Amino acid sequence: MPANKVRQIEVGGAQPYRVEVGAGLLGRVRVAERRAALIHPEDLPAGLVEQVQQTLNPAVTISVPARDACKTLEVMAGVLSRLAQANLPRDGAVIGLGGGAATDLAGFVAAAYLRGVAFYTLPTTLLGMVDAAVGGKTGVNLPEGKNLVGAFWPPKAVWCDTDALNSLPPAVFREGAAEAFKHGLISDPSLLERVLSPEFRPGGPLLEQTVADAIAVKAGVVTRDLTERGERAYLNFGHTLAHALEGVTQQALAHGEAVGYGMHYAARLSRALGGADLTAHTRAFLRWQRPQSLEALGLDGLTYEQVSAYMARDKKADSDGVRFVLLHDLARPYLLRVPENVLREEFAGWLSDLRTRE
Ligand SMILES: NC(=O)c1ccc[n+]([C@@H]2O[C@H](COP(=O)([O-])OP(=O)(O)OC[C@H]3O[C@@H](n4cnc5c(N)ncnc54)[C@H](O)[C@@H]3O)[C@@H](O)[C@H]2O)c1
Repeated sequence: MPANKVRQIEVGGAQPYRVEVGAGLLGRVRVAERRAALIHPEDLPAGLVEQVQQTLNPAVTISVPARDACKTLEVMAGVLSRLAQANLPRDGAVIGLGGGAATDLAGFVAAAYLRGVAFYTLPTTLLGMVDAAVGGKTGVNLPEGKNLVGAFWPPKAVWCDTDALNSLPPAVFREGAAEAFKHGLISDPSLLERVLSPEFRPGGPLLEQTVADAIAVKAGVVTRDLTERGERAYLNFGHTLAHALEGVTQQALAHGEAVGYGMHYAARLSRALGGADLTAHTRAFLRWQRPQSLEALGLDGLTYEQVSAYMARDKKADSDGVRFVLLHDLARPYLLRVPENVLREEFAGWLSDLRTRE
């Protein structure tokens, strides 16, 4: 039987690497290092872990708490001790298997252990593939906030086995799709229709090419802007309001759902400031994604004041205000400090759109 087609994306920079996307990759991966440590979240289906254990025969397998509970300095210290106890050598490797949380932790462990060992990523969520696995950012959270400690530590290779997505809860898949849709809006409009297609689903005929093309957008951006001085900021389209909504709901609203909401707000701002009207796209995405409603989150009375306090703390804010990623049109992003009256008016319109959506 011919091997399944594997799509390849090159990520440039000081340490270039390749991302491979295809069905069944977990059973075919190879690393050059003789001793490796495999790190995975405890709730990952056992079959995925066993498949990688059989393929790579790691010296040690370490299970860590699910989701962001693994992204703490305490968990990291425990993992580092396990590597030391297993005598993982300087020419060994750390392999991160799982969603973005586990791979963020594994990458930071790889960056810190013996001042840095080889790192490989095997993302098993849609978000892990189209966003977290590319760009070299690794790290953990602090009680004071998310991703406050970390390092740029690019992997030597990334393998996205699309078969792994079969076990992903549908809501988690739709969450990750927000980042793929965002890549469509800021750079590759052909992604928009594909992400919303019924054929874009685990096991569906549009899955692999769409995942590969969404990764290619991020790979292109980070290759051109390694130090996050320019273009990389465009990847934050929709994220300013998203982070505020995550803050207001104390993370009860999932990140990908918050990004869906945030993209609609950013599309409204873009239109209000003279850009093309792209709100039909962002509304279509929300209909497809079906995020938790503001009512269900107890936010029927959400006010501009509640979100603006968080937006003012956004990392793109400086003393003159918050800079938003906006769109002149599809694939034409830019950064702008948006006047307060526009932020407020469009917030009211955004809220009314959410209340009246089908
Ligand atoms: N490094 C980056 O550039 C970057 C970018 C975006 C997000 N992130 C980080 O990624 C994290 C979010 O990642 P996520 O959305 O992948 O969520 P996640 O890592 O929290 O995973 C979600 C849940 O799904 C489980 N899971 C993973 N794969 C599965 C599978 N195939 N089948 C069944 N269950 C599976 C996980 O164990 C977890 O319980 C956040 O910590 C965020 O900060 C990092």
